[in-house]
Amino acid sequence: MAPSYSVKDLVPLTGSDAKIPRIGYGVYKSTDCKAAVLAALSAGYRHIDTAQFYKNEVDVGEAIKIAGIPRKELYIVTKIQHPVENSVEKTLENIRESVRKIDSGEGDRKGYVDLFLVHTPASGREGREILWKALELLKEEGATVDIGVSNYGIEHLFQMDSYTSIKPVCNQIEVHPFCQQKEVIDLCKSKGIVITAYAPIARNRRSDNPVLVAIGQKHGRHPTQVMIKWSLQKGYIPLPKSDDPRRMKANMDMDGWELTEEEISEIEQLDEGQDGAICPYPLNCP
Ligand SMILES: NC(=O)c1ccc[n+]([C@@H]2O[C@H](COP(=O)([O-])OP(=O)(O)OC[C@H]3O[C@@H](n4cnc5c(N)ncnc54)[C@H](OP(=O)(O)O)[C@@H]3O)[C@@H](O)[C@H]2O)c1
Repeated sequence: MAPSYSVKDLVPLTGSDAKIPRIGYGVYKSTDCKAAVLAALSAGYRHIDTAQFYKNEVDVGEAIKIAGIPRKELYIVTKIQHPVENSVEKTLENIRESVRKIDSGEGDRKGYVDLFLVHTPASGREGREILWKALELLKEEGATVDIGVSNYGIEHLFQMDSYTSIKPVCNQIEVHPFCQQKEVIDLCKSKGIVITAYAPIARNRRSDNPVLVAIGQKHGRHPTQVMIKWSLQKGYIPLPKSDDPRRMKANMDMDGWELTEEEISEIEQLDEGQDGAICPYPLNCP
């Protein structure tokens, strides 16, 4: 039987004292992000995934302030896409501003995020190095607990060995049954890098797949729930997004049922590699 993971689990991160919640709530294209984050927190999510690109870091910050949940019980992730004017110092100032938007601190407590990611490898070798140096400095200042990457392919990860003092704890990539990313995930596993899985339900575009429908029927579940369960049982950290509080809850309703080994094997057959990806595929960019 594949390991069973609860959505309440906290996953240890290599080289860090921090742990990341086993499921996250994504806010890309959230229509009313502040309300959505408040609803997600009341549905039980404690891990929120935003980015500078989503233009809703302020909304996330306001929601976590209003919710009143102790800061240490929350796990907040954001991302930067490109360096500012090819300068480490200017890039550092830019990412400090992200942290201020999300958590300006309280009393003696300095504001921080839990994880800051390089959103994409698309800035090229030199740009990636500038971004990483700025993130390392942000971590040294205590404004982010950990740092990581997103959309990094095998070459980008190997290159990091030559310019990093601090290793990435996470690679956030598109992973769902139609885009399973086996090679890059194997490399991440060997380096102790956790996988956070974006677009984990393939944006609900493949929910009519007969294999997922049949497995869902056996468990009395929607195909999107089967996709999230598969992600969890593979040991990933899925980040489903929904604006709808009922769907937010359904996407968290993962405990107390399991996919069998046979069902997992059937899902493994759905992989379409790069052709199954929904997002523009940056893992191979130079
Ligand atoms: N690092 C990156 O480059 C990157 C790229 C893409 C995404 N992400 C992150 O990953 C998160 C999730 O990815 P995503 O938003 O692209 O895709 P996703 O989570 O796979 O799918 C979201 C879509 O599925 C619908 N949906 C959600 N739950 C459902 C359910 N139970 N039944 C039917 N439909 C459902 C949502 O509609 P409703 O809202 O109407 O429910 C929405 O249209 C993002 O929000 C973002 O945080 C990161």
